[in-house]
Amino acid sequence: MLCDRIRPDERMVIEAAKSKGIDLRIYDIDQLVFDTAGDPEVEIEKVVLQRSMSYFKSMHVTALLENNGIKVVNSFDSAVVCGNKLLASIALSKAGVPTPRTLVAFTEDSALRAVNKIGYPAILKPIVGSWGRLIAPLKDLESARAILETREFMFPLYQVFYIQEMIQNLLRDIRCFVIGDRAVAAMYRYSPPGEWRTNVARGGRAEACPITPDLEELCVRAAEAVGGGAFGVDVMETPNGFVVHEVNYTTEFKATSESTGVDIPGLILDYLVEMARH
Ligand SMILES: Nc1ncnc2c1ncn2[C@@H]1O[C@H](COP(=O)(O)OP(=O)(O)O)[C@@H](O)[C@H]1O
Ligand SMILES: [Mg+2]
Repeated sequence: MLCDRIRPDERMVIEAAKSKGIDLRIYDIDQLVFDTAGDPEVEIEKVVLQRSMSYFKSMHVTALLENNGIKVVNSFDSAVVCGNKLLASIALSKAGVPTPRTLVAFTEDSALRAVNKIGYPAILKPIVGSWGRLIAPLKDLESARAILETREFMFPLYQVFYIQEMIQNLLRDIRCFVIGDRAVAAMYRYSPPGEWRTNVARGGRAEACPITPDLEELCVRAAEAVGGGAFGVDVMETPNGFVVHEVNYTTEFKATSESTGVDIPGLILDYLVEMARH
C-alpha cells in the first residue's frame, strides 16, 4: 500500500491484511525517490494499492510505478480520468452511462451563457477536487457572476468552468462500491442540516442502501467506463432514474463499511491478491 497519510481507512486495510495473513508493506510516498528511466531495483511489490490523498501525487506516482511493471489499483489511466470531473463526464457519456447534463466554458461570459442554457439553479464544480470543496450553487445571474468572478483570481485549473444541472429536492445520494465486476456495498448519504452536499467529510450521514440489479448494472458499467478496478461510484436518484455524478478512484470506505457491515478493505485486498497471481 502506498499512502501519504494513515487515515482510519488505511488502518482498516492494515487490520484486514493482518486478519487475512497478508504480508502488507506500507510505503510513504513522501519518502520515495523515483527515476523516470525506470528503477530496475525497485523493491516495491508487483501489486500496489494506491491511497494517496492528492490527485497530482497519486497520478504521477502511479505513472512511475507502472513504468516499473508494477500493477496499481487503480491504474494511471483510471486515476487521470476519475480525478478530473470533465474527463470523467466524457468517459461516462461515451459509455452511455446517464450523468447530469454538464456544459464547459472557459471565460466568465461563456460560462454565464452555459448557465443560461442549463437553467438556474446550476452547479459550478472545480474539475479536480473532492469532499465537495469549492462546489458552488449558481442560483441567479448575480450570484453566478460573482462566483465566476472569484474564480478569475484562482489557479487556472479553476477557470475551466464545469457547469452542471442541479438535481432538485435531493435529500440523499448513493455511494456504491464496485470491485472488479461486482457492486459489493452501497450506502445512502443524507446531507446534514443546512447543507445540500452529502459528502461524509461534510457531516453526511450514512445508511445502508440495497443493491438492486439496476444499481449494480449501472455502477459496474460506470467503473468499466473508467478502466475497471476498485471504485466508489456516486449516484443520484432522479425522477427519470439513476444518474452517476462521480467515480472516485481512491475512495474512503470507512462509512460504507460501517453502515453496511461489508468488509470493503478485505475485498479490496482479495482483489489485489488475485491480481498478483496473474
Ligand atoms: N448535479 C448535482 N445536483 C445536486 N447535487 C449535486 C450534484 N452534483 C453534486 N451534488 C452534491 O454535491 C456533492 C459533491 O459532488 P461531487 O460531484 O461528488 O464532488 P466531490 O468530488 O467533491 O465529492 C455530491 O455528493 C452531491 O451531494
Ligand atoms: Mg463525490
